[in-house]
Amino acid sequence: MAQRKILVTTALPYANGDIHLGHLVGYVQADIWVRFQRMQGHDCVHVCGDDTHGTPVMLKAESLGITPQQLIEKVHVAHKQDFADFNVDFDNFYTTHSDENRQLSELIFERLKQRGDIVVKTIKQAYDPSRNMFLPDRYVKGECPRCHAQDQYGDSCESCGATYSPTELINPVSAVSGATPIEKESEHFFFELKNYTDVLQEWTRAGHLQPQVKNKLDEWFEVGLREWDISRDAPYFGFEIPGAPGKFFYVWLDAPIGYMASFKDFCSQKPEYDFDEYWNKDSDVELYQFIGKDIIYFHSLFWPATLTGAGFRTPTAVFANGFLTIEGKKMSKSRGTFINARTYLEHLNPECLRYYFAAKLSSDIEDIDLSFEDFMLRVNADVVGKVVNIASRCAGFIRKRFDNTLSTVNLKPGLYQEFVDAGVSIGEHFDKREFSRAVREIMELADKANQYIDEMKPWQMAKEDGREQEVQGVCSVGINLFRVLMTYLKPVIPGIAADVEEFLDIAPMTWDNRTQPLLGHKINTFKPLITRIEQDSLDALTQAVKDQQSV
Ligand code: 2FM
Ligand code: ZN
Repeated sequence: MAQRKILVTTALPYANGDIHLGHLVGYVQADIWVRFQRMQGHDCVHVCGDDTHGTPVMLKAESLGITPQQLIEKVHVAHKQDFADFNVDFDNFYTTHSDENRQLSELIFERLKQRGDIVVKTIKQAYDPSRNMFLPDRYVKGECPRCHAQDQYGDSCESCGATYSPTELINPVSAVSGATPIEKESEHFFFELKNYTDVLQEWTRAGHLQPQVKNKLDEWFEVGLREWDISRDAPYFGFEIPGAPGKFFYVWLDAPIGYMASFKDFCSQKPEYDFDEYWNKDSDVELYQFIGKDIIYFHSLFWPATLTGAGFRTPTAVFANGFLTIEGKKMSKSRGTFINARTYLEHLNPECLRYYFAAKLSSDIEDIDLSFEDFMLRVNADVVGKVVNIASRCAGFIRKRFDNTLSTVNLKPGLYQEFVDAGVSIGEHFDKREFSRAVREIMELADKANQYIDEMKPWQMAKEDGREQEVQGVCSVGINLFRVLMTYLKPVIPGIAADVEEFLDIAPMTWDNRTQPLLGHKINTFKPLITRIEQDSLDALTQAVKDQQSV
C-alpha cells in the first residue's frame, strides 16, 4: 500500500482551565486513529496547541494576579503533561499566542479584506462602565425575560432554554464587577459568511462531514448564513488588528488558524515537512480535524469559508465526537463528577480509560457514558482477564522450563493465521473510527486464545512425562497469539504495548510484522503489565473529586 501523507488536528483546548475527562474523549479518539495510521506505515502528523486568547483568559489571569502571558505559560506546561501522561502523542503542541499565528491571522484577514469579505459596522453592546470594557454575553447576568429565573447568562436561560440578547435581561449586572451595564456603540469587523453559501453548500455535501453533521448544517443553511463578528475591543488578550488600534481579532478567528501555526512551527523543527505542501489549495495531503460536537459551526462553516477565501486548502474531513457523560449525566461540579485529567491520573491507570473509551467509541456524534462500575468490570474482564491473562498463563512455563525461549515450531498455524487475517477487518474498523467494533473483534479473538489454552491445559501436560515439547509448543502458541492481539490493541493501549515489546524483546509492533510468528525466539521474563482496577481506587478518585469541588 502506498504511504499516505496525513495531517491530523485536534481542537485546541482553552488556556483558562484544566484538561478534564470530557476533553480526553476527543484527544484519545484522535490519538488512537493516528497511532493506527502510523502502524500502517503512513506518515501521520498530529498537531494541537493551546487556545490562548479571549476575555476568559484575560479575566482569569487578573483574578490570579498574574499576566495573561504568565497564565498561558503555566497552563501550557500542565496541559502538555496531562496529554503526555495519557499517552496522547502530539507531534507538536503549540500555542495560538505565537508569531506564526499572528502572521497567518493577519495574512488571512488581509486576503479576506481584499476580496471584499470584510465589512465594518457599528453595533451596540453591553458595556461595564466601572471596568471600561465591553462585556461578552456570558459576562452579563440577570433575570430571564421569559421565565423570570434569576442569575441567567446574557445569551440564554438555563432554566427555560430561551435565547435572547443581553439587553433583554431584566436587572442585568456585569459578572465582572457587579455594575449595571450600559449600552455602548462600537465599530466591528464582520466576515460576510453568506458570500460563501454556495461554496459551503457544495463542500458540506461532498462527503467531508458525518451524516448527522451534514443534516445539522442543512438546517443552518435554511435559516441563512449570518455575518460573523470577528473583532473585539480593548481590553482584550489577543492580536491587535493591523491598522485598527484598540481592535483585536476575536479568539475564534485566530484559534483554528492555530492549527496551521502549530504545523508551521513543527515544520521549522522538521525541515522534511513543507508547510505549503500541506496547506496549498490543491494539496494532496489528507487533512483530518477532530473536534467536539459543540464547535461544529465554527469548523464546518466559518473555518472552511475563511480558508477558501484566503486561498488555502480545506479539510478532507471534519470528525466530530459526542460528549462524555458520567453515570448517564452531564459532568457536573455540583454532583462531584467533574473529573480533571490530573485527578484521574493520581488514582488510576490512563490505559484503562483509553481502553474504555475505545470500547465505546464509534464514528458518530453520540455521547458516550462513563459508568464506574461498568468501567471496572469491563477493563478487568477484557484487558486483565482476557488479554494479559494469556501471557501470564504461558510465560511462567516458558521461563521455568525453557529458559524463556519460544518453540521453534508453530503448533497451530491455522489458528495463528486466523488471528492474522482478522487484522484486515479490525484495521478497517480502526480506519473508519469504529473503535468499539474493532475492540469487540479483538476480544472475540482473545476468547479463542484462552479457549485454546484451556483445552490444551499446559499445566497438566507439564506434570506428565515426555510432554515437554508440547508444553513449550502450546505456551508459544499462546504467546504468539497474545502478540497479535497486542498489535491490534497497540493504538488503544500504547503504554502496555511498549511494555509487551520489551517483554517479548521485539521491534515495535506494526500491522505488517504481525504476520510472522516468533519462533525459537528468546523473550524476557514476564512482569505484570497491568493490575486490576480495585473499588478502593474508584472510591478514592470519587472522594478526591468531591474534595476538590468543595473548596
Ligand atoms: O471549544 C474549545 O474548547 C475551543 N478552545 C476549541 C478551539 S478549536 C480551534 F479552533 F482552535
Ligand atoms: Zn428562562
